[in-house]
Amino acid sequence: MLEQLDQNLKAGLAALEKLSDEEALLQWRAEYLGKRSTVMEAFTVMRDLGPEERPKVGKRANEVRQALEAALEERRESVRQAVLLQALETDRLDVTLPGRPQTLGRLHPVTQTLRRIYKIFAEMGFQVYRSREVESDDYNFTFLNMPPHHPARDMVDTFYTSQGGVILRTHTSAGQIHAMREYCPEPIRVILPGMCYRFEQISARYEMQFTQVEGLAVGRDITFSDLKGTLSDFARRLFRVEVRTRFRASHFPFTEPSAEMDIECFICGGEGCGVCKHTGWLEILGSGVVHPNVLRHGGYDPAEFTGFAFGMGPERLTMLLHQIGDIRNFWRNDLRFLEQF
Ligand code: PHE
Repeated sequence: MLEQLDQNLKAGLAALEKLSDEEALLQWRAEYLGKRSTVMEAFTVMRDLGPEERPKVGKRANEVRQALEAALEERRESVRQAVLLQALETDRLDVTLPGRPQTLGRLHPVTQTLRRIYKIFAEMGFQVYRSREVESDDYNFTFLNMPPHHPARDMVDTFYTSQGGVILRTHTSAGQIHAMREYCPEPIRVILPGMCYRFEQISARYEMQFTQVEGLAVGRDITFSDLKGTLSDFARRLFRVEVRTRFRASHFPFTEPSAEMDIECFICGGEGCGVCKHTGWLEILGSGVVHPNVLRHGGYDPAEFTGFAFGMGPERLTMLLHQIGDIRNFWRNDLRFLEQF
């Protein structure tokens, strides 16, 4: 029996040496340490031996089992190491390969300009007031002194819906009435940003959709000087230079008097160039003192309240800020353009 155990140990160790994967190790374990293995059988056979031999066989069987178990553990560890080394060899990472570039998004140039506009007006006490893009004819035209068949409507023809009197707003001025009706009789200082729509002959200067920022101040003792001061200061803050401004008499049905504001061309400094069409000035917005009828439609008594309003085009301002030649770039979604800002 003892001899059998020694042989079994030798054979086991020899067989183990040749194994190189987990599967084979499991089989080996069944063969040399399983129920039917020589070692385990030795424990059974042992019971029938005399008191002389029994402890010897028992001791030896235990030693052989421990030796086989220890050898298996050792082999298993080296098999694991070998598998790992193999994997490192074949699945090797080439750290010199260039990585995948991360595409970073950014704010649209018009959004960037809008945020600068919000900040400037916030510093002057103007809140942002959001107003709808789908409007009624009344808010967009009639309440702003443009009754049906008024010629000014033709200049800003727009998109009509199949529902009578429901249109896409042609300007943010429609929001003036919403703001007044909400705040009346409190004083107002708001800017109203958003998309507007017009049926345009699309060209480098005109798009059928564009952003506007409307401004509205209503209160007691508000004068045209307040309008001039606010807007001149705005221009200086936006263009970050001691830019000169001028107001030209103009006409809007919903303001009286009305004015367009120009800034001195900062490309040529007023000398005259291609950008300012050799006038030395660039038009940036329309404005005026709120017409009494408009105040009345908003719920205010024009004998007590006055106000001023203005409307500017952030695309236009962005074009001036970055010397962009074609307004159609803004909504074309061409990354080669957008990534420059
Ligand atoms: N709504 C005018 C436009 O679309 C701009 C404007 C706004 C003029 C407010 C005067 C007062 O051109």
